[in-house]
Amino acid sequence: MTASTGPGIGGTSGTGGAATSFVIAIDGPAGTGKSTIARRVAVALGAGYLDTGAMYRIVSLAVLSAGIDPADPTGVAELLPRLTFDTPVDPAEQRHLLAGRDVSDEIRGRDVTLAVTPVSANPAVRAWLLGRQRELAYSGRMVVEGRDIGTVVTPDAPLKIYLTADASERARRRHQQNAVRPGVPVGGGAEAHDNDGTAADLAAVALDLHRRDSHDSTRRHAPLQAAADAVVIDSSELAEPETVERVLTLATERGIR
Ligand code: DC
Repeated sequence: MTASTGPGIGGTSGTGGAATSFVIAIDGPAGTGKSTIARRVAVALGAGYLDTGAMYRIVSLAVLSAGIDPADPTGVAELLPRLTFDTPVDPAEQRHLLAGRDVSDEIRGRDVTLAVTPVSANPAVRAWLLGRQRELAYSGRMVVEGRDIGTVVTPDAPLKIYLTADASERARRRHQQNAVRPGVPVGGGAEAHDNDGTAADLAAVALDLHRRDSHDSTRRHAPLQAAADAVVIDSSELAEPETVERVLTLATERGIR
């Protein structure tokens, strides 16, 4: 279940049938467990899952691979029409392809994690991805995860969640997530490796999360913020299954099933 992004979007399917359509928007800062929760909610509902952060990461990887400075807005904008990538919407299998090559691990590496900050602040990139994100989000029953889903991408979503957690708890979770994944190359490799993937430095992880969050929250275009009608869930004290349950309860209350 993938959709090609480039000249156009290929067939998106397998989102449980598009007879009825809904979007559950899940936004929030890094390290809240957003991705896992969004995927589990999607699986529980038999819905699709769209990771918009991965789309920004893929563009960032393409920028780096082309030798373009991620902070050069014009150079980055000029690359966009030449990009072709696949966006998976199956919550059970997230394989990201850039020009046919599997870059699922590479997009979680440190270089991309640094480059994605200026690339995602670039209005040309945001405008270019927005159409694709909307097309996918409205293609069926979808759980969509990012920073601006409830505010910009699908402001009419019937359920918007803003997932947050204490900064220290988010750093602890991200650090643990990095440390438990063996064989991660230095510089990153698996899901959101903001450090070297070893039992490295909790302080460095905390610093990098802070760097990203403050850039994401203060950028001029589509900053990270809760939609006015979002349900804010503070997961600092919640285990993942409890957070998933809370989202599913809200979905049921709003007639989303
Ligand atoms: O969810 P993530 O950490 O993989 O996202 C990578 C970056 O992409 C994040 O630092 C901010 C940006 N992003 C964004 O600007 N808007 C989104 N909807 C999703 C991600």
